[in-house]
Amino acid sequence: MSSLDPRSNGLFGVYIHWPFCAAKCPYCDFNSHVHRGEFDEQRYVEAYKQEIGYYARLTKGRTVQSIFFGGGTPSLMDPRSVAAILETIGQYWNIAPKAEITLEANPTSVEADRFRGYRAAGVNRVSLGVQSLREGPLAELGRRHTVDEAIAAVRLAQSIFPRSSFDLIYARPRQTLSDWEDELTEALWLTQGHISLYQLTIEMGTRYYDLFNAGKLKMPDEDLSADFYELTQELARNAGLPAYEISNHARPGQESIHNLIYWRYGEYAGVGPGAHGRLILDGHRHATAAEKLPFEWEKRVLARGHGMATDDILTWEEEGDELLVMGLRLREGIDPERFSKLSGRKIDPRQIAELKRIGFVETLPNGYLRVTDKGWPVLDAVVADLAA
Ligand SMILES: C[S@@+](CC[C@H](N)C(=O)[O-])C[C@H]1O[C@@H](n2cnc3c(N)ncnc32)[C@H](O)[C@@H]1O
Ligand code: SF4
Repeated sequence: MSSLDPRSNGLFGVYIHWPFCAAKCPYCDFNSHVHRGEFDEQRYVEAYKQEIGYYARLTKGRTVQSIFFGGGTPSLMDPRSVAAILETIGQYWNIAPKAEITLEANPTSVEADRFRGYRAAGVNRVSLGVQSLREGPLAELGRRHTVDEAIAAVRLAQSIFPRSSFDLIYARPRQTLSDWEDELTEALWLTQGHISLYQLTIEMGTRYYDLFNAGKLKMPDEDLSADFYELTQELARNAGLPAYEISNHARPGQESIHNLIYWRYGEYAGVGPGAHGRLILDGHRHATAAEKLPFEWEKRVLARGHGMATDDILTWEEEGDELLVMGLRLREGIDPERFSKLSGRKIDPRQIAELKRIGFVETLPNGYLRVTDKGWPVLDAVVADLAA
């Protein structure tokens, strides 16, 4: 079925997950692995090509608006691997002339050396995991780059790619508001059109999780976290980079298409170990998830053409909930009409009225419902009320 399916909004992207990292960072729960010993990258890339073919046959006729290499650390990839994957995508689907092709990169000098190769392969945007512009925190976060390397990588990316972004993590142990104000101010000078600012979260199964539970990581309390958040919003807004999503800031027009496809609840094929996808097939939205272990995934793909571990058809109710969870993270909010179409129900007008009364949501002139500045710090609770 084509992307004209009524459940679709015409947005379609391809997400490629590269699961390898040079080392595991203590806070990270992404599907990332350090492989030791021999690794035949060219052979491994064959599995991506096969899995791309599998999803392309399911989603014939779609136009790709975004391709995103995420990780793990895609900047460990040989540029020829990136080129081969992009070529395969182009063989199967139409790629929109203005498609955004992003690669997530770590800012070590070795990885920055490959930037020209990625650009030649067709990548037109990089997102750099800078994380901090201070040496001490970088070391604590287990990062393998220095502040100077990070700044050099950002500048190099800006000179090679038409668009770039970088990530910072804040509300870190022992960080003060005034430390963050100085650090973020420097970062905002450095950024071009896009920056992602994430509050540190303690994820289960990470080293930070164990340290936190052993009382060895002092995290900011709720009030301080809220102050960090407000300060972040204010500084970024004043620098001309307002939030278009809870943690993502851009100059108008520089928003990431990849992010928007996700939060506007479009369709995306998830390729690679542990990748998730959302595809509309025969009038149903499928939630796909691939086998997470990199070499198990490869084995499955080579045997069956795909590495999918689960493929669930979402109920209308689940679709409605997902639309709310994703869409209310966006500054533009959600279209209540689309919610009704997908879920077969209306958002309870009494919940909306109550949330409006306390100033947590508002209706825009185009009819969209969005969370206000006051509501953003308690977004999860607002979503839960609207989904109830
Ligand atoms: C897929 S990850 C990392 C990509 C790349 N390998 C890197 O480390 O730069 C994307 C981003 O998520 C953020 N992130 C990962 N774990 C986090 C956590 N526990 N708390 C807050 N942000 C986190 C980091 O800013 C990171 O750059
Ligand atoms: S933060 Fe990035 S480099 Fe560190 S383990 Fe996670 S994916 Fe790998």
